[in-house]
Amino acid sequence: MADQLIIFDTTLRDGEQSPGASMTRDEKLRIARQLERLKVDVIEAGFAASSNGDFECVQAIARVVKDSTICSLSRANDRDIARAAEALKDASRARIHTFIATSALHMEKKLRMTPEQVLEQAKQSVRFARNLLEDIEFSPEDGYRSDPDFLCRVIEAVIAEGATTINVPDTVGYAIPELYGNFIKNLRERIPNSDKAIWSVHCHNDLGMAVANSLAGVKIGGARQVECTINGLGERAGNCSLEEVVMAVKTRRDYFGLDVNIDTQHIVAASRMVSQTTGFVVQPNKAVVGANAFAHASGIHQDGVLKARDTYEIMRAEDVGWSANKIVLGKLSGRNAFKQRLQELGVELESESEINAAFTRFKELADRKSEIFDEDILALVSDESLSGEKEQFGFVSLSQRSETGERPHAEIVFTVDGREVKSGAEGNGPVDASLKAIEAHVHSGADMVLYSVNAISGSTESQGEVTVRLQSAGRVVNGVGADPDIIVASAKAYLSALNKLQSKSERVAAQG
Ligand code: KIV
Ligand code: ZN
Repeated sequence: MADQLIIFDTTLRDGEQSPGASMTRDEKLRIARQLERLKVDVIEAGFAASSNGDFECVQAIARVVKDSTICSLSRANDRDIARAAEALKDASRARIHTFIATSALHMEKKLRMTPEQVLEQAKQSVRFARNLLEDIEFSPEDGYRSDPDFLCRVIEAVIAEGATTINVPDTVGYAIPELYGNFIKNLRERIPNSDKAIWSVHCHNDLGMAVANSLAGVKIGGARQVECTINGLGERAGNCSLEEVVMAVKTRRDYFGLDVNIDTQHIVAASRMVSQTTGFVVQPNKAVVGANAFAHASGIHQDGVLKARDTYEIMRAEDVGWSANKIVLGKLSGRNAFKQRLQELGVELESESEINAAFTRFKELADRKSEIFDEDILALVSDESLSGEKEQFGFVSLSQRSETGERPHAEIVFTVDGREVKSGAEGNGPVDASLKAIEAHVHSGADMVLYSVNAISGSTESQGEVTVRLQSAGRVVNGVGADPDIIVASAKAYLSALNKLQSKSERVAAQG
């Protein structure tokens, strides 16, 4: 039997650290369920001690997701570790992931600790964590830039204290595949008790090599866990991308000789869900999940693929969840057909009232758009207001006038704590006028740091999906709105971002 490669997803922790990618509890729960459907082995659900909000997210995911191990990050101190254990109390399988920096640069400049103090703190933290849980992962932060002799001492000591997984992060994305692979191989060969732990890789993508480095850590270094995120989401240039690493190991099983548990048919839905939730658009030529990943434009390629698909295709689009851009439902479709299509798309809505809310929106959309595609349905259900939780701002209606040579004007009706208000403004264009009309009433003072429009299913008949990223008092939030009218979609996205600005709490940085 081939060895198993453990897939550890950190979209909800390291991915969320990406500025602007912060998610609400409901959004995280929805993504966690999708990760469970994907059969991810370990889900890093957050950093419980960083804020009450993060604690609640880890706790909620630990209560709901039963088929994956649920993990919380924790700095190497008793308070963080105890908080992580408490948040994970109801998980069917739980892991604490504790970390402390080991590079000379980080120890001296950031932690202001001596190497001996770091070694002691690492040992003491793993000992403390092991008294609370069996499954303990230890990461020497900035491990790849650490002195190998010192790293060997730290890792040997934490394994002796009971760490069950050793993760070697390339925190700043500095590694080169062959060098990183050999770095891990040398550590494993030099550390006498290295066989008592599973070795893991965690690579950032600053030089565009996170996937290559991770795979070298597996092939050359003998690591058996890869830490990764959906769409490679993460700080700066991101993390190792789950879909790429999984499809590389599956497609080149002849080379890697490893099995992964992942149910790849759920990959595209997971990618769409993460991109819609965070507003981080997937580039069209992105491997596996980009819109062009399986599109053959050149005549020679098309001809080849029609004659024999493997002339130009190394993976099958349907194996990663690309279904043909199907017209699935229309105006006459009933609630059962809608519910069944949701199930086929792997979407689980929590309650009958959520299904009813989604179905009402589906009917409204079908009145305005004759063909409803899978992408439209996914956009409908990714809207956080389905949960029925009271939100401060809600869209009601909009009218706007724009004509060549005239300054556009918009009038918008929206709710503030359930009460309808009407506001109007002029702007450079109709979108600008609509958002200024909202701002004229709300006075949030937030700065808009991103505005993007994307056609959900490719043509002008499609719904427009708008992302608005707002920044206020050091916090960055995304709002997403979808509608066949992109001005309405923009207003919905703006209101959604304002709702999130109201609800986010302060948190401690994971690498602070
Ligand atoms: O990149 C990193 O070093 C991390 C650690 C906290 C594991 O994310
Ligand atoms: Zn990281």
